[in-house]
Amino acid sequence: MTLTRKDFPSGFQFGAATAAYQIEGSGFGGAGPSHWDSFAATPGNVVRAETGAVACDHYHRFNEDFDLLQQGNFDAYRFSTSWSRVLPEGRGTVNQEGLDYYDRLTDALLERGLKPYQTLYHWEMPAALSDLGGWTNPDVHNWFGDYTEIIDARIGDRMEGIATINEPWCTAYLSHFLGIHAPGLRDIRATARAMHHVMKAHGEAMTRLRAKGRKNLGIALNFEYANPASNSAQDLAAAATEDAIYNRWFIEAMTKGTYPKEALEGFEPHMPKGWQDDLKTHIHQPLDWLGVNYYTRKNHAHDEQASAWPATRPVQGHRETTQMGWEVYPEGLHHFLTRMKNDYVGDLPIYVTENGMAWEDRVKDGSVNDPERIAFIQRHLGAMKQAIDDGVNLNGFFYWSLLDNYEWAEGYDKRFGIVHVDFETLERTPKASYEMLKQALKRT
Ligand code: NOJ
Repeated sequence: MTLTRKDFPSGFQFGAATAAYQIEGSGFGGAGPSHWDSFAATPGNVVRAETGAVACDHYHRFNEDFDLLQQGNFDAYRFSTSWSRVLPEGRGTVNQEGLDYYDRLTDALLERGLKPYQTLYHWEMPAALSDLGGWTNPDVHNWFGDYTEIIDARIGDRMEGIATINEPWCTAYLSHFLGIHAPGLRDIRATARAMHHVMKAHGEAMTRLRAKGRKNLGIALNFEYANPASNSAQDLAAAATEDAIYNRWFIEAMTKGTYPKEALEGFEPHMPKGWQDDLKTHIHQPLDWLGVNYYTRKNHAHDEQASAWPATRPVQGHRETTQMGWEVYPEGLHHFLTRMKNDYVGDLPIYVTENGMAWEDRVKDGSVNDPERIAFIQRHLGAMKQAIDDGVNLNGFFYWSLLDNYEWAEGYDKRFGIVHVDFETLERTPKASYEMLKQALKRT
């Protein structure tokens, strides 16, 4: 059975999501460099040292891309604004050209009847601020608050929703502990600080936007089902530790004003001074909506060889996987949607701000056949519908991503789009999954 718009409550928003560095192209239009430029230029960090310099050239082609959204019967679009495009040095001088661009982009969406959902930070820290420690610097919340006010003054009045941070786990842990994303650190002190400062920056932006009267504020958290690799007490503990770091740290801080003890066990000795006060003054405050990004589950085992916390290691499971090697596990989406309602946010509106899959899509005779993605989307729509039936106040779903794009450390190989992009010619070719959604989203 194919799920369509009719299977969801009226007013449910169907959208697609993107992020600035992954699609716009960078290093022109008055923008400053970000830590992704230098991270990617460092051998070994990114497949073939690819960067977002050209990406999908969306900066010059957004009208064409938004036509596709409109023709695909979508209601909404989630995008991010680039901090270093707005403030080339991260603070101080404002790049008017960058503000003008986001202004035009916003109007281009509205002209097509598409609702704009902005993300303020989707991973490119201005290089000048990265030089000062980026997310580890105790002033980063103020820098972020200033940037927030500047971009908000230009486009905030037309945003349907504003998310402060995209995926704080990636911003902090993947980037400062696992070293996989910029700035590529593997340092627990830096991680503890980033884990806290990113939440403090979220709170600062919320406070500044509230002062302007904004009432549509949220955040996009990522969740990954933490499955114990076995029923041994040690593997159960490993999964609980990963669950605390990944799935509980951020939401508990915002909704309860605490960090989980299983994660503090590792981070507490390295936390910045005054963190308990920050929880009260900045972090524990109401949201207007919660964004859930969900892709997969991981199996965790205790790592016998590890010399230090958290002493966990991933174990490959036996389920089908995507091009990323990620297990397909729609049950996990239902799990997190109901868990958010029951444990944290009650009836607060929730959006699935990202869900999607990568596959080695090829253009053949002018079209791209991607039955794997069609099945993936349908199965995850099923999980969302089930969550709604179970009483979750789910208000919308944004497919990741509109376009094949720059998949960070993986470069351009991993294709998540419902629209294929030829990175030589930049030609767009809607895939069969786009056509499926276009039919399913028809308004009758
Ligand atoms: C999460 C991120 O927000 C996005 O930037 C990324 O491309 C997708 N997941 C796929 O990994």
